[in-house]
Amino acid sequence: MRLACLTLLLVSVCWALPFRQSGFLDFMMEDEQISGDGPPVVTTKQEIPPEVPIGPVCPFRCQCHLHVVQCSDLGMKNVPEDIPSDAQLLDLQNNKITEIRENDFKGLKALHALILVNNKITIIHAKAFSPLVNLQRLYLSKNMLKDIPSNMPKSVQELRIHENQITKIKKASFTGMVHVIVMELGSNPLTSSGVDADAFKDLKRVSYIRIADTNITSIPKGLPTSLSELHLDGNRITKVTADSLKGLKHLAKLGLSSNEISVVENGTLAMIPHLRELHLDHNALTSVPAGLPDHKYIQVIYLHANKIASVGTEDFCPASFNTKKAMYSGISLFSNPVPYWEVQPITFRCVFDRSAVQLGNYRKK
Ligand SMILES: *[C@@H]1O[C@H](CO)[C@@H](O)[C@H](O)[C@H]1NC(C)=O
Ligand SMILES: *[C@@H]1O[C@H](CO)[C@@H](O)[C@H](O)[C@H]1NC(C)=O
Repeated sequence: MRLACLTLLLVSVCWALPFRQSGFLDFMMEDEQISGDGPPVVTTKQEIPPEVPIGPVCPFRCQCHLHVVQCSDLGMKNVPEDIPSDAQLLDLQNNKITEIRENDFKGLKALHALILVNNKITIIHAKAFSPLVNLQRLYLSKNMLKDIPSNMPKSVQELRIHENQITKIKKASFTGMVHVIVMELGSNPLTSSGVDADAFKDLKRVSYIRIADTNITSIPKGLPTSLSELHLDGNRITKVTADSLKGLKHLAKLGLSSNEISVVENGTLAMIPHLRELHLDHNALTSVPAGLPDHKYIQVIYLHANKIASVGTEDFCPASFNTKKAMYSGISLFSNPVPYWEVQPITFRCVFDRSAVQLGNYRKK
């Protein structure tokens, strides 16, 4: 009770006055002056460091310090009131919020990061995000959203919305979001028919997209040419078509592990000339993808746990040594039906070091 009164007292004091670093005792001693209009004259010399940082205003039970509003793990069912208007980071993760209401973020113009991870959000009001004109990071992962929220702030640079119930990515979902750099959409019940062609087209600066552990069966079409990392592991992709990667001239990492890929079309690697790392392990490939000897930069290729039954001496390295600019630093081929003793050592003549090749044994289960 005492504590509650004290908190209330502080809140009302701080509401009216500019922020001052003071101890609890100062306020208690200045009791008389609180009702006055002028600022209190702080006379006490000895300051006791407050256990809970004191801000001008802070939601009940949250902690507010240096523009950070920390309200995680409090069992909250709603976004609290009294969020200071100068808040830059609002952490509401691990609560029980089910709905984001129209005025929940009213006036939070300074907010840079909003963390709503691990709640029970099913509804976000269409205007809820509109005050957040400076929001850069929006973390909505581990909720129960069925759709990508509409009207996300155009300023967002990082969107994390994995582990929800999203089934569709519509063309309008990311309209005008030209500042996005990182997008994490994995672990949603997406299918390829639910992902519109060109849904990602407006993301002109995006460098990282991850859509892992969904039910998509093909690489989404119309990916932005700015991409440098594309992670599509753990899906149900059956084929890598050259066309799907057309124009991705900055792509350096491509993750396609744990899919159902049996075909990598000829010409695919030529579409992604700056690729350095390609993960194709745990698929259904029967041969090493074509085009590796002609690719200048690829250094790491995972092909383990496929159905590759033979490996030729020209599969990885060019005939002439000078044509490949970067030597391989990692090739994995274990858990394939190819008898490893039949693979000629000369196959790996453009590998940086012998230990970079993992051949290993194949055991039929
Ligand atoms: C993919 O589909 C299967 C069956 O249709 C379903 O059991 C599974 O949960 C789905 N995966 C995801 C990530 O939604
Ligand atoms: C792919 O390329 C290889 C060698 O360049 C060639 O032998 C093969 O026939 C081609 N496959 C198709 C389907 O075009």
